[in-house]
Amino acid sequence: MDDEPDTLNRNSAETVGPDSPAPAPRESVTALRRGIRSYALRAGRMTEFQRTSFETLAARWCVPFRSGEPFVPETAFGRTAPFVVEIGFGMGVATAEIAAALPATNFLGIEVHTPGVGKLLSEIENRSLRNLRILHHDAVEFLEDCVRPGSVSGFHVFFPDPWPKKRHHKRRLIQRPLTDLLASRLVPWGYLYFVTDWEEYALWARDALDSTPGLTNRFPGGWADRAPWRPVTKFERRALTEGREIRELWYVKP
Ligand SMILES: C[S@@+](CC[C@H](N)C(=O)[O-])C[C@H]1O[C@@H](n2cnc3c(N)ncnc32)[C@H](O)[C@@H]1O
Repeated sequence: MDDEPDTLNRNSAETVGPDSPAPAPRESVTALRRGIRSYALRAGRMTEFQRTSFETLAARWCVPFRSGEPFVPETAFGRTAPFVVEIGFGMGVATAEIAAALPATNFLGIEVHTPGVGKLLSEIENRSLRNLRILHHDAVEFLEDCVRPGSVSGFHVFFPDPWPKKRHHKRRLIQRPLTDLLASRLVPWGYLYFVTDWEEYALWARDALDSTPGLTNRFPGGWADRAPWRPVTKFERRALTEGREIRELWYVKP
């Protein structure tokens, strides 16, 4: 995992984390986390195929990021349906499988890594996935700036970067106040589905979600069962082969 210069993280948000007292509601999560990103932009090269897919298909299947302008799923998808957001789809392997398995749901996959966007665009086209759109931007900024409170049926966060070094824990996606932001965007009885192969992150995420007002563990105190529609990816198989357990969490907003 790439390291970024320490200077990036030296600001007042540095004190925010699950060890800190529960924060009072803030105006802006992104302002609070200014300069702290949950991803490291990798220099990774795009294959010719990914580049062509990106160049030819982005205009069709990517939704634009327009700061401050509300995102209206009904307009983006041309229909009214449950709206599920996946944060950090990587190469989009699970994303495409799930969208194909659940055609009655509208899915928005969010990713900053351009090769992955190119790859998933090609899957949308080749598999005629009409219920899947992509946002090529920072999910946190989008959720805060463009997504209306009470409008998301579910969040998927699969194998997010674990940021294992202690000084990088503040970059983890699942922590307060980011979880408060996610909770605020959920519809009543909306869900958050988190999966990791990193035991310590699983415990950390469970603590953060337990302390987030409005969210309840559907599997009280414990780990969730795999959703039948979530495929086992190559990455996950490797984790299992290497002896790491897969931990799943499923929270709802009653
Ligand atoms: C470890 S990868 C996992 C990818 C995929 N979910 C999987 O299961 O293989 C985490 C991904 O999340 C993306 N990511 C992290 N924070 C993000 C953010 N705030 N907005 C968009 N993408 C993000 C990273 O670029 C990276 O591709």
